[in-house]
Amino acid sequence: MEYEKIEFIEAIKKLGERYSIEIKYDEDDKSKQFFTRLYEIHQLAADHFQKNLYSSTGEKVLKYLADRKLTEDTIKQFSIGYAEDSWDRLLSLIKTKKYPDDVINKSGLFSRTEKGIFDRFRGRIMFPITDMSGKVVAFGGRDFTGKSDAKYLNSSETPIYYKSNLLFGLSTTKEAIRKEKYLIIVEGYMDFLQLYQNEIYNIVAISGTALTERHVNQIRKFTDTVYLAYDGDDPGRKAAIRAGYQLLRGGISPQIIPVPEESDPDSWVKEKGPKPLLQSVKKAKELTSFHMEHCGLDLSRPSHRSQLAKEIISEIVNIRDEILRRYTVKQISEELSVDEDSLLRILSAQDRKRKLRKTAEKPELAVIPFTSSAEKAQFELVKLITSEELEIISFVKQYINLNSFTNNLLKNLTNALLTQYEKDGSFNFSRIIDIYQKKSDRDLVSRILLESSSHSDAKEVAVDCLITLEQYPIKQSISEQRLRLRELEKNGQDSLSTISKVVELQEQLKNLDSKRTELLNNI
Ligand code: UTP
Ligand code: MN
Repeated sequence: MEYEKIEFIEAIKKLGERYSIEIKYDEDDKSKQFFTRLYEIHQLAADHFQKNLYSSTGEKVLKYLADRKLTEDTIKQFSIGYAEDSWDRLLSLIKTKKYPDDVINKSGLFSRTEKGIFDRFRGRIMFPITDMSGKVVAFGGRDFTGKSDAKYLNSSETPIYYKSNLLFGLSTTKEAIRKEKYLIIVEGYMDFLQLYQNEIYNIVAISGTALTERHVNQIRKFTDTVYLAYDGDDPGRKAAIRAGYQLLRGGISPQIIPVPEESDPDSWVKEKGPKPLLQSVKKAKELTSFHMEHCGLDLSRPSHRSQLAKEIISEIVNIRDEILRRYTVKQISEELSVDEDSLLRILSAQDRKRKLRKTAEKPELAVIPFTSSAEKAQFELVKLITSEELEIISFVKQYINLNSFTNNLLKNLTNALLTQYEKDGSFNFSRIIDIYQKKSDRDLVSRILLESSSHSDAKEVAVDCLITLEQYPIKQSISEQRLRLRELEKNGQDSLSTISKVVELQEQLKNLDSKRTELLNNI
């Protein structure tokens, strides 16, 4: 579809012909219509948002964009628009065109709650996101009300919009990337637009998601020389390092442009013009050197050097390109003065482990380290929440007591999920994972989020988990008191107050049992 700029069904037909596979389909195939309509809705929305920008409601927004030094040409070329602060402007517009509910629901432009379906983007500056053929497939929206906690919000994923392989701006800049023979990756829409306007064309924006293997595969079609120009703050540098290793694993050895402290490419170019940034391309740092500079360790100490070396090794074990792997090992051995042979030994040990894990595959994935009944209940609650069943989520939200959580990671995760859902009406797992800095936490959280839970009696399960959680600390105290009791009796001491404490705790347990019955009866 992207390469030949053709429709979905056309693409399937062509592939069928090329590989002599017979494709059976209806001429007025439903799915063809479905895709065509999804694209139509997006074009309608883009036109609508653009029209708003030039109406009286958009005046302030236009002024804001002008203050941020975007020219009218840029605004027009990238079809920037404005979604009014209203619950149903887009919805009613789309409804007048008589699109089926199915298409509306799956467009990613609307959210759904108990109260019904409404516009996902309200009071936001709208950046259309296009696929490789230049068709609008989604939007990113920047808050303009100052009221939302999410500065930026994207369409949810749809059959025409997969975040993990889409790069903002690529359909416009791919020729320039080929021509210049290198690519600069920036983080934000505004970074992209400001650079583009300053005639730096060989760019894309990653726009809020982590760089994935599929992004890298996409990039490799155009160039294998990549510079990362992320924000000049701690999160920006960390994200750049993470993205850097993703590129390295995909066979691209990236360099990192040192963006001035507390600045971003947008403000940098806006203030100083394109020259300093372009000059810094020549002074860019190789990924590993940049990582060493910003790892927060004291590299004069051998133990810290070896710690960092191991960290880097674990990032590069699965680099596909053998030569690149050897080269990187050599580089870190020199720069950290750690013996190259021992690095290679660590590398092959980790590689063996990785292969083992791969062959063990599924069972390994199933091992999630929650053992106590309380932890299992917390884990199950997370799974119930991520099942995205509105009724269950609001039920859990009503009764949950985060203070009863015994596992900090699960507590944070639950809190983050519920907060995100409240704000956006949907989940964005990659942003959730991004909250965690430690690799082990990130891995665990991704695995937790991957686990799905499907119960026909989800509410019953929820009740059970919630009550189990509340009962857990009480049960703990009962066993503590029992131990004490035994101790007291052994020593012939007065145990009456301890006995009555146990009785009281058992009473509490019973009350929770009745609460369980009551909740179950109300379902
Ligand atoms: P930044 O927070 O650096 O945005 O996020 P920015 O470009 O400086 O924003 P302005 O200048 O205040 O308008 C960089 C990118 O990360 C994504 C967006 O794509 C943004 O452009 N992002 C950021 C989100 O998806 N959600 C957020 O809440 C914040
Ligand atoms: Mn920024």
